[in-house]
Amino acid sequence: MLDQDLPDLRLIRPAETDTERVVTYGEATTESSGDLTGVGALLKLEAITVTFGGITALDGIDLRVDRGEVVGIIGPNGAGKTTLFDVVSGVRVPSRGTVLLGGTDVTRRPPASRARLGLRRTFQRVQVFGWLSVEDNVLAALDVVGGGGGFVADLVGSPFRRHRERERRHRGEATLERCGLSDVRHELAGSLPIGIARMVELARAIVDPPRLLLLDEPASGLDSQESERLGREIRSLREESACSVLLVEHDAGFVMEQCDRIVVLDQGAILAQGLPDEIQRDAAVRSAYLGAPTDDRSDAAG
Ligand SMILES: Nc1ncnc2c1ncn2[C@@H]1O[C@H](COP(=O)(O)OP(=O)(O)OP(=O)(O)O)[C@@H](O)[C@H]1O
Ligand SMILES: [Mg+2]
Repeated sequence: MLDQDLPDLRLIRPAETDTERVVTYGEATTESSGDLTGVGALLKLEAITVTFGGITALDGIDLRVDRGEVVGIIGPNGAGKTTLFDVVSGVRVPSRGTVLLGGTDVTRRPPASRARLGLRRTFQRVQVFGWLSVEDNVLAALDVVGGGGGFVADLVGSPFRRHRERERRHRGEATLERCGLSDVRHELAGSLPIGIARMVELARAIVDPPRLLLLDEPASGLDSQESERLGREIRSLREESACSVLLVEHDAGFVMEQCDRIVVLDQGAILAQGLPDEIQRDAAVRSAYLGAPTDDRSDAAG
């Protein structure tokens, strides 16, 4: 079955959950260089635990993402995928554990501080400024990272500020174009169908090139053309700027095609991780998430 006819992962609950069984394929990669531009681990999670009252949403997660790597996070509803993104992006402080971004401990730093380190995120429930045009949504994302020149430059319209404004417009235009949004640039973002609104959110996330991009179900609601464009964007971000991507997605075909490595989460714990074809071959993962019958587990050890 591998690449064809992969089901919507959301609809499948594990028939049999064996959280003791954690399979890790492949060798460990290079060590962290301690900054966001060097080689090695860009993101490192150590023993991340999140509890909500009596619910353990994440249970001692260890994870590393290297520079330029695209890592897929899959798992059924309630597995803890969005909670993991909340912890990485700073929306939620974990009950225990450490978040390292480029070797810096950011566990207690707010989202804005992490954004300054190059972290961007899109949301499972799309978040755009509905009352602004598509173009202004994208330009506003650049304002957050600095228009340049400060208050005095605002008043006197210094050459520096005019140059920065031209540069800002240029980057906005280029991003609208690459995200297929040029034709709807003047439309209110709140009036758009979900697929286009998701592209607006993506455009906001990439207009200032990120170092680490978290995408929470970005293909949800996209038609096949939009999904293809999204896939192209992910690939070109990596090629152009060695951006790392963490991708949560229920569309198994999309995940398998886009990702270098896949992590399977179940009930807040990592059930397996490895290359896409290793994960597709893993009998227990197939049984749990990909809808295949449980048969031989001998190929799971890779
Ligand atoms: N704010 C919250 N308060 C209480 N429980 C929460 C909260 N957020 C998440 N949870 C619980 O934590 C667990 C993990 O939820 P999470 O949203 O991270 O799952 P998910 O893998 O993203 O699921 P989905 O595929 O449905 O988006 C679930 O049991 C959920 O009910
Ligand atoms: Mg979620």
